[in-house]
Amino acid sequence: TFVAVVFTLKLPLSYAQSQSAIQPATEQARGISYIWWSMFWVAVVVFVAVMLLLAWGLWRGKSKKPTQLSYLASRNLVIVAGIAVPLVTVICLVGGSLMLGRSLSASPPDNALEVRITGWMWWWQIEYLDENSNTIATTANELHVPINRPIQIYLESGDVIHSFWVPQLHGKTDLIPGRTNSSWFEVDASGTFRGQCAEFCGLQHALMGFLVVSEPQAEFDVWFANQQAPAQPAENNGVLAGQRVFFEAGCHQCHTIRGTDAAGTAGPDLTHLASRQSIASVTRRNSRAHLGGWVADPNGIKPGAKMPMSQLDAKELSDLLDYLQSLH
Ligand code: CUA
Repeated sequence: TFVAVVFTLKLPLSYAQSQSAIQPATEQARGISYIWWSMFWVAVVVFVAVMLLLAWGLWRGKSKKPTQLSYLASRNLVIVAGIAVPLVTVICLVGGSLMLGRSLSASPPDNALEVRITGWMWWWQIEYLDENSNTIATTANELHVPINRPIQIYLESGDVIHSFWVPQLHGKTDLIPGRTNSSWFEVDASGTFRGQCAEFCGLQHALMGFLVVSEPQAEFDVWFANQQAPAQPAENNGVLAGQRVFFEAGCHQCHTIRGTDAAGTAGPDLTHLASRQSIASVTRRNSRAHLGGWVADPNGIKPGAKMPMSQLDAKELSDLLDYLQSLH
């Protein structure tokens, strides 16, 4: 109930996006929402019935002398109200949720777009796959999908157990080290949906968010073509000084920027960093000020983050930000 109240009231989260399981945008989430409302209304009926009986009992007890039910009547009361009704109610609810679980685990249609998502402490690596399961584009914390097309996701973990959860799109699926779990959904409207790690995974579990952006096929195609391309050469954008800082500061040891020698894999791929809405797993909007604050002191924003504090002077930081912001 507490969770329901929080999501229904849409309490402010670290990034202003709705995260409600009862505002579904896929067939799968509609099923989950339907079960949620079924349980809610059954609970309402049971609660009201019990309260009415209690009130009736109190009123009767006050106005009359206590009456003794016959043995047969009290036995029937126990059998019907104490056993039969609860049993039928529980069987219906459990049966409904089992049937829903089965339909959710059905495999997707053949034309699914395949994406591998790897959980890391505390961010999401997103790789788009071709038909041979080779990676054709890599990004982080922002999954773009075309509307009206099934999306097959393969879920893996690079370290500990995480859980992939976008309440408006589907239920939770765990990311478990050493195995690949899968899930699929098809979004039928354009929108931005916030997702959240749903399995406690350490200090920054609560700030391990991501976004799913659904858009019409044509818009998705433009985005996808850009994501597959290498970064624009720094000299074309007049940001060579910033690129030099990037390598001198050792950023390339953990980050990849395709089209350059930066090929680190410990942190998110930054090839098209500037195209993303947020940084640090949806902890901050992707603005120059937030990016600067993050680069200067990641642990000030997310204590425990693996990215070290930088030792740049103001000029170097400014040049570096020019370079990072040129990575569209
Ligand atoms: Cu990852 Cu919690």
